[in-house]
Amino acid sequence: MPRTPEEGRALFDRWARTYDLDLAGQDGPEAGPLVGYAETLRIAAEQVPVVPGMSVLDVGIGTGAFAARFRGRGVRVSGVDPSPAMLDACRGKHPGFILRVGDFNAIPFDSGEFDVVISSFAFHEVPPGGRLAACRELARVLKPGGALCLVDIMFASPAALAAAREAIGERWDDEEDYPLVGDLDQLLHEAGFGGSRWRQTAPCHWMVLARKPA
Ligand SMILES: C[S@@+](CC[C@H](N)C(=O)[O-])C[C@H]1O[C@@H](n2cnc3c(N)ncnc32)[C@H](O)[C@@H]1O
Repeated sequence: MPRTPEEGRALFDRWARTYDLDLAGQDGPEAGPLVGYAETLRIAAEQVPVVPGMSVLDVGIGTGAFAARFRGRGVRVSGVDPSPAMLDACRGKHPGFILRVGDFNAIPFDSGEFDVVISSFAFHEVPPGGRLAACRELARVLKPGGALCLVDIMFASPAALAAAREAIGERWDDEEDYPLVGDLDQLLHEAGFGGSRWRQTAPCHWMVLARKPA
């Protein structure tokens, strides 16, 4: 059964204190579908087209692991997360980030405010019925011509998802509803994004780069 938003917030509030340590210490089978987490963030961050002076928003920023990879690149980093405890942990590590409580479906920033929107391992938290609206919200906060880079646990087909579930066994979390690449591609298209480019970065991870038309 998928989690409710309230259950999700409580889970991440509880997890915030040990999240970094937990993920740093796991990159084998014990990581379940997160195996390759650090490498996926590294690959994705390298692909994001930022130049000094740009504004970057991380949606579902958590403790800031993905956004941290943009520090030192001359950009202004903002972040949104529904979990106040995650934001507190992020603020402690990255006092320069502009952080607000919010979520994919209600991003508390103005329309057209960002050159780039990034997100890692958070989109699957949006229930399927809210995913198109979430994609439209991502497009709303981007400037015309702005770029989206979204990475998450995703699968190319129902068969690939079933095979991963079988391989991962009891580490699989039945409360999660991971997107299929084709379904998210369609939603991004319906939300007005163009030129989507997909890349698999780990056995259970995909990244997409897409643009809001200029
Ligand atoms: C697995 S953590 C990923 C955090 C970070 N992006 C990373 O890569 O380490 C998922 C994050 O998504 C946040 N989240 C949960 N539901 C969300 C939603 N509907 N919109 C935005 N973020 C959400 C959680 O609070 C949590 O911080």
